[in-house]
Formats: sequence, structure tokens, C-alpha cells
Amino acid sequence: MVILGIDTTCDDTSAGIVANGSQVLANVISSQYAAHEAFGGIVPMIAAREHTRQIGHIIRAAMQEAQVTFSDLDAVAVSNNQGLLLSLVVGVSAAKSIALACGIPLVGIHHLEGHIYSVLMAHEEVLRFPFLCLTVAGGHTLLLRVEDHGVYSLLGHTRDDAAGEAFDKVARRLGLGYPGGAAIEKLAKQGNAAAYAFPRPMITRSNLDFSFSGLKTAVMNLLDSAETFRKEDVAASFQQAVADVLVTKTLRAAKSEGLARIALAGGVAVNGLLRSQLTTEAAKRGCQVYLPAPSLCMDNGAMVAGAGYYLLRHRGADPLTIGVRANAPLGRLQVKYRHPAKYRSA
Ligand code: KG4
Ligand code: ZN
Repeated sequence: MVILGIDTTCDDTSAGIVANGSQVLANVISSQYAAHEAFGGIVPMIAAREHTRQIGHIIRAAMQEAQVTFSDLDAVAVSNNQGLLLSLVVGVSAAKSIALACGIPLVGIHHLEGHIYSVLMAHEEVLRFPFLCLTVAGGHTLLLRVEDHGVYSLLGHTRDDAAGEAFDKVARRLGLGYPGGAAIEKLAKQGNAAAYAFPRPMITRSNLDFSFSGLKTAVMNLLDSAETFRKEDVAASFQQAVADVLVTKTLRAAKSEGLARIALAGGVAVNGLLRSQLTTEAAKRGCQVYLPAPSLCMDNGAMVAGAGYYLLRHRGADPLTIGVRANAPLGRLQVKYRHPAKYRSA
């Protein structure tokens, strides 16, 4: 079964072609960094305009790379929930046009489902339900219990900045450009992670929520007040603080939920320190960590196609009347927010 997946949730226009849920035949991503750079952040109207300019060309490029034609497509999946509203509209309109013209099923995907399925795509044989999923990206940081296909419970989330957002803001302040996660990681390789004792926000709190705004501010304050500093040491110490919080809270969630399988997803899941620290610390507690392919961590169409493959079978196709939502519950079930008092220190 060949599925075209489209993601236009934020500032990347992407189309992927996936066969049978896991075989990535193409994954084309067009970045809009240049269009937003002058504004110091993503401008929603510009994002929608750029998606409109790129979408047809990106879909065609993905189909050419995968060597498929419209008649080879069995379904089209699209992120229609969670993201910038006008950006979502562009991808959904393109997906509907293709579904209508080709007479194939349309599958609407919550953007976070795309991230979750990026892990399942790589470990379909072994990543059994239920499992814990830490999704850590530029717009999200959350812990989910994934009960079954399309069935999720929210265990905790960030109360302010997402972890990737903190990476981006610190990177910008260090003059490393946007997005800055990869640049911070590269710089940190030459730095001393113990040079600065940055705070680990909410690490001792007996809940599963996160907060990264205070950590970001602590880094900014240091950069504003210190007479001299090594950028490498700042990057390494900051990255270590983020990893410590994410790993501690994830293992606390695994213990509280009685889950030994942990998936790591989202753009920040590319980060080598986070990958290795989570894997090592989880193994000490008898847990196994499942990682997505690095090429499927950042927003992309292939993960949406992968999610579409599974959710088409488990949830069915969507009507051509599906809409878009900037903030949406995950799956057809409402995301349950569990009371923090349930959790104790791991
Ligand atoms: O998943 P994604 O493309 O967007 C959202 O759904 O939000 O994630 C993008 C985020 C950016 O904040 C970027 O700085 C971060 O992922 N990122 C990284 C690394 N590569 C990308 N963060 C830390 N280390 C990296 N190597
Ligand atoms: Zn994302």
C-alpha cells in the first residue's frame, strides 16, 4: 500500500511517500528559514504564503523521487490538526484535491501522531502497546501513554516553552541562527557540560510537567552579565540541563505507569546526548528506548504517511469535509490529563 503524506503544520512544506507503513520511498522537505529570518521568528501569514508557493512542487518532487504516479497512490494522509491554522489549510486543501481527483481515501492526522508513528515505523515488530512516548520538539514537549493505535493519555507537558524552543532561543542569543538545536549540539561537543550549574526546572517536582522558560532565562542572564564566557561551555551546560530534566521525568513516568518501553520522538530526538543518556539510564532500570530514524525526527511528510497507513486500518478514512484545528485533542479520544499528584519521585 503506497501512501502520500503531507505536512504543512508550521514552517516546513513536506511530502513523503511510504510503502506498507515503513518503507520510505521519498521524503522531501522545503524549509522556509530564509523567508522568516529577517523577522526573528515564524510569521504565520508568510508561512502560509510559502506553503502555497511550494506545495505542488514538493508533492511532485516526492512522487518523482519515489518513482510513483497518481495512479500508484492508495491513500493520502495529511496533518490537519495542531499547527498554524493557515499553514494547515494549504496541506489539507492539496490532500483533498488529490483524494478527490484520484478517488482514494483521505486520512487526517494529528501532527503529534505523525511524530509518534515515526518511532513505530522503525520498530513495528518490537514496539508493542502500551508504551510511553516523550515527544520533544520546537512546539511541543509532552509525555504520552500510547495505549493502542489512536488511543493516548497525556501524562505531562511543558507549562511554558517547549525544549526545542529553548534550544532555538539560546542559539539565537549565541548568534548561531535559527533553528539552533543542531548548532548548539555541535558547539557543545567542544564544551564542558559542568562549567555552569544551570537550573533543572521542575526536576524534583512530583509531577510529569516540564518548564524550560526559567532555564532559558538563566542562560540569557549569564550571557548578559558575564564579562567573558566560552560559547562551547554555555552550549554544553545548557544541553546537559535539558537532557537531565527530560530523562529524569521520562523515567519517572515509566515507573509510575509501569511501562518498560519508551519511544522518543520530535525534532529534539535527533540530539545525540538525549538519545544516549535516555537509552543508558533507561537500561539501568530495565527499560528499552526506541528511537526514530534521524531523518524522520523533524517535521516531515513521511511520518504522516506512516501514521496514515496504520490509522487508516484502525480508524478508517476521513470524509472530504474534515477541517483544520490549531489546537486539537489527540486522536478521536479526548486526551486525558492525569492528575499530577499521582506521581512520585523515581
Ligand atoms: O519536530 P520539529 O521539526 O518541529 C515541531 O514539531 O515543533 O522540531 C524542531 C525543533 C527545533 O526547535 C530544533 O532546534 C530542534 O527541533 N532540533 C534539535 C536538534 N535538531 C533539531 N534540538 C536539539 N538538538 C538537535 N540536534
Ligand atoms: Zn513537529
